[in-house]
Amino acid sequence: MSIYGQTKGTEFEKQIAQLATGEAMGGMMYYALARIAQDFGLEEVAKEFIGIGNQEVNHAGFYATLNGKYPSNEKDFWKLVKGLSKAEYKGESNLNKLADALRSYGLSEAADSVEYFALQEKHHGIKTEDIYNKYAGVNAEVNGSGKVYVCSVCGFEYEGELDNESDDYKCPICGCAKGVFKLADA
Ligand SMILES: [Fe+2]
Ligand SMILES: [Fe+2]
Repeated sequence: MSIYGQTKGTEFEKQIAQLATGEAMGGMMYYALARIAQDFGLEEVAKEFIGIGNQEVNHAGFYATLNGKYPSNEKDFWKLVKGLSKAEYKGESNLNKLADALRSYGLSEAADSVEYFALQEKHHGIKTEDIYNKYAGVNAEVNGSGKVYVCSVCGFEYEGELDNESDDYKCPICGCAKGVFKLADA
């Protein structure tokens, strides 16, 4: 039996949500500590921390699923994947701009990494787009109003009537409020 949404609306929901966020932050922290340990020349420590960081992110995904944070119906699932792919491509162009700015600021090592991450974001965009095209199937065609709203912060694209979402709707990727979405030109 799927664990999806089992704690949503229960007395556990708040604690599980805190765990999801805490574990996601933990993943970030362990990866950062791994880099610091590398600066100390402690490769073994860095490796351990990366291992722990991966587990923390896995836990975050588990708690998010338990709370039903992301959609489980196929239509909304694929809608999210499609929006994700747009955000990944936007991530690529945003990071390339950042890399240029960092470079002209004299931070060339950081710029190299950010440039590399931009390539990875492009790869995420290609992958998620390919997956959508290959697997979304009939769910891809279900598109109510033909309207597209774009998150002005991360580039996530919402297809459909955003006004039908509740006022506390948040961008599933960057968490920004409904108000940052702008209707895309048709
Ligand atoms: Fe990405
Ligand atoms: Fe966003």
